[in-house]
Amino acid sequence: MLLRPKYSLNELLDHVEELRVFPDVAVRVNEVIRKPGTGIREMSSAVSMDPVLSGRLLKVANSPFYGLPRPASSVERAVQIIGFHSTRDLALALAMSGMGSGRTEEAAEVWTHTLYTAVAMRHMARYVRGLDRDEAFITGLMHDLGVLILLSVEAEAYVPLHHSFSSQGALLARAEQVQFGFDHAALGAACLQRWRLADGIVAAVAGHHQDCLPEVARRSKVLAALHVASDLVRAVGRGGEDQAAQVGAVHPLSATLRIPQAAWGIIAHAIVEDGDEMIEMMS
Ligand SMILES: [Fe+2]
Ligand SMILES: [Fe+2]
Repeated sequence: MLLRPKYSLNELLDHVEELRVFPDVAVRVNEVIRKPGTGIREMSSAVSMDPVLSGRLLKVANSPFYGLPRPASSVERAVQIIGFHSTRDLALALAMSGMGSGRTEEAAEVWTHTLYTAVAMRHMARYVRGLDRDEAFITGLMHDLGVLILLSVEAEAYVPLHHSFSSQGALLARAEQVQFGFDHAALGAACLQRWRLADGIVAAVAGHHQDCLPEVARRSKVLAALHVASDLVRAVGRGGEDQAAQVGAVHPLSATLRIPQAAWGIIAHAIVEDGDEMIEMMS
């Protein structure tokens, strides 16, 4: 028997805001980046409002990844080292990790999946004309935000459904529509719109469980890349980077994105390496 959901889509979004599921700082950092003419100083002061984010940022800046001769001790320096856009990525990733890791097994799994998808998107963007690397990363990171919201706010009604369908995204979305009247793609997109993320990101998240026909893919590279990235990440889970490279090379959207055949091995390898490293840095 289906359990009745507690909230409508809009009530759910209000609830997310009340619960402060997503920290203000991530929203603010995102706003800083969208405002033309802002710099390291504005970004540093937005980050400094949140001690947890500041601490994490320093930890990342001082990680072996950046190989600094002397440790960075100020947020401003950390932002300088990590870079303006990567700071925003990190702020959003940390906010998402707060919703994922350490909560429940299901949420941790979704969080890992989204982080790997983000890494895959970023690496694919190197080869795709007209696909912005930051936008690609954030789209990957945010695409299953709706799942994380449902897991945290509608756990009772949602967890059983998630257990049954989580490995098949399109079926999961259909089951959500039956039970809640909307799916996690629509919910995530509505939430990102409230947080004023870029329209291209919102649209790609909204459409990530609809069939991606070649004409749609040509119009939205980020959406096409998201479809491919999801399949790559699943392939990594099944058979490691070799299987992911094979999936990329024969993917129907690969031709639309014009990623050269020879690049798939490199992309698949980078997903595994960077994905593992990102998980480590965030924990
Ligand atoms: Fe999804
Ligand atoms: Fe997904």
